[in-house]
Amino acid sequence: MSIMNIAIDGPSSAGKSTIAKRIAKRLNLTYVDTGAMYRALGLKAIRLGISPEDGGSVSPMLENTNVCFKNVDGEQRILLDGEDVSELIRTEEVSNAASVISTHACVRERLLELQREIARNTSTVMDGRDIGTVVLPDATYKFFVTASAEVRARRRYLEYEQKGILDGRSFEQVLAEIKARDHRDMTREFAPLRPAEDCVMIDTSDMDIDTAVNALLEAID
Ligand code: DC
Repeated sequence: MSIMNIAIDGPSSAGKSTIAKRIAKRLNLTYVDTGAMYRALGLKAIRLGISPEDGGSVSPMLENTNVCFKNVDGEQRILLDGEDVSELIRTEEVSNAASVISTHACVRERLLELQREIARNTSTVMDGRDIGTVVLPDATYKFFVTASAEVRARRRYLEYEQKGILDGRSFEQVLAEIKARDHRDMTREFAPLRPAEDCVMIDTSDMDIDTAVNALLEAID
């Protein structure tokens, strides 16, 4: 059987991972959440007291760091040096550390190798920021899933509220965090967030998840 890879890029909270998981299930492909890999490195830096901005300290940290996925009961779990950190990486502190640490070329090169290796041997739905542009420029299908910053901030606010991790933040603060992260992801020097020229654009601002999933499936034959 030939390998098929579907790249899904876009800004945070656009619905990428939910959509990617659904598509993977539907088409029987492996879901790869590349953001989780950056988050795992962000978490490690926090734990070691390393500033994610400090490339000089981040680079040696990578030498003895192992990040990989493990399938547990059909669900992808992320392992950092053998420890399952799938839940621990979902905080706002780790989100920001991941966004900052992902600006370093040494970090990107390391994860790029791992991501390409997975896609070489497995048919995947891979979600991230640079999958269609850098990691898998020859992906079978490429999508850019986006939504307005206000809509994404609203989704994130509700999610944090439900999980009880809002920590007193206002909607405006959540919106400001989203915009700051967008700006950092889009303006960084290496592999910035941008749509691949040959991608299909999906704006989920006025779509529910089912509609968005169907929009992608229609483009996949
Ligand atoms: O998708 P996410 O929110 O879990 O990603 C966290 C951060 O990781 C994001 O702000 C930027 C970075 N990232 C990246 O630079 N490239 C990717 N392919 C995936 C994530």
